[in-house]
Amino acid sequence: MATPGSDALVFFGATGDLAHKMIFPALQALTKSGRLDVPVIGVAKAGWTVGQLRERARASLEQYGGGVDRAAFDALSSRLQYIDGDYEEPGTFDLLRKSLGSSQRPLHYLAIPPSLFGTVVGGLGRSGCAKGARVVVEKPFGRDRASAARLNVVLRSVFPEEAIFRIDHYLGKEPVQNLLYFRFGNSFLEPIWNRNFVDSVQITMAESFGVAGRGPLYEETGAIRDVIQNHMLQVIACLAMEAPTSGGASALRDAKTRLLQSIAPLDPARVVRGQFRGYRQEPGVAPDSQVETYAAVRLSIDSWRWAGVPFFIRAGKCLPVTATEVLVRLRPPPVTVFDESSLDLSHSNHLRFRLGPDVATALGVRSKEPGEAMVGSGVELLAVRDVAIDMLPYERLLGDAMAGDPTLFSTEDAVEACWRIVDPIVDRRARVVEYEPGTWGPPEANALIAGDGGWHDPAASTGAAKRGGSQPASR
Ligand code: BG6
Repeated sequence: MATPGSDALVFFGATGDLAHKMIFPALQALTKSGRLDVPVIGVAKAGWTVGQLRERARASLEQYGGGVDRAAFDALSSRLQYIDGDYEEPGTFDLLRKSLGSSQRPLHYLAIPPSLFGTVVGGLGRSGCAKGARVVVEKPFGRDRASAARLNVVLRSVFPEEAIFRIDHYLGKEPVQNLLYFRFGNSFLEPIWNRNFVDSVQITMAESFGVAGRGPLYEETGAIRDVIQNHMLQVIACLAMEAPTSGGASALRDAKTRLLQSIAPLDPARVVRGQFRGYRQEPGVAPDSQVETYAAVRLSIDSWRWAGVPFFIRAGKCLPVTATEVLVRLRPPPVTVFDESSLDLSHSNHLRFRLGPDVATALGVRSKEPGEAMVGSGVELLAVRDVAIDMLPYERLLGDAMAGDPTLFSTEDAVEACWRIVDPIVDRRARVVEYEPGTWGPPEANALIAGDGGWHDPAASTGAAKRGGSQPASR
């Protein structure tokens, strides 16, 4: 049964960084493709006028949105309204109720720091703005398992579960969707996709830039809450889940949740936290901050398919390149037929998924070198995709939420399962090790994976953006 579309879009945090880098480009794209023709109401506390918000939108499109599309921008501007007010003040929500006019089914998108979610949801409920509405909540959803559970209670006291959309923009990325498609659209993979053939799995999410003015927000999160609890675990879920019974929303979400529930809670002894030198001098950062800007973890999945296969994640700021990449190492051949013992065999026998900023899928194999000897080298069968035509993650996800399609959003159980995994390490009791900007983080992270072939360097494969390159449009 088709669900009726939202008839207004309200976004809280309209003057913030996320809106600037991600939301305005998504709104222009949605307007251009005809999927956004309703009032758009920005809310923030910045002392701005609607004119200033329009200018901000224009600047955002010029810097992050591939330029202003005259017709789409004019249409979007004409629908744009702005409410300036404190989220603690009931008056802000009364104004919003007025601006919503005859709207019956608004979509409220909370592009605000997690500490404000509860306040805004309460305000929406009390003012009547939540009636018939949907709500999109940004990650991280809560600060830990207990606060996420409390936040769910607050949300559920105001919105029914089917009206709650927990967003994770990684799920809107083409290459992340392709992980699922590649796994379940092909039959050759399934026989080897298990503990009998897979040696280890690793994901690197490297960013060559720092916190780029997001100090206060980052102090609330740190790398584990910012990207591991959500983006990275979602990628693991796509890589490791069992086949869903169909491509429908509940089958997909159930299969993912079951996988997340089978990941063992992290062992603090298998976690390395790092902080780049200079982080404490960033505006809004405490001079003695213990927040990690880098984390490396080793996970295990307690299932018949994956028992004994280590899954590694490392994610950090101020690393040598910007690249997100998955490497699935396959087991070596069981018996040595050709004596190549003196050779480095590390660049073969793998599947590699480059998820950003460029997109590629590669199968690493050994192939014989011409000549007398039975000696080979590692080569990759490589499929590279042009990302220029990709739909923006927020365009897809906000469009889906407006249309009421929950497929790419997390359920309460999935979010809960993710917190259960990281809960033992989010309290920051484990020490944080300083690392030099431009390096691969604390050397301790190498020890974590030393027995499993070491970290793969994503800079050695297709097109990572080197340090000093421009910061991509991210939060
Ligand atoms: C955001 C994080 O969710 O994802 C940022 O808050 C990070 O810290 C960003 O930079 C990365 O997203 P992308 O799409 O550029 O990989």
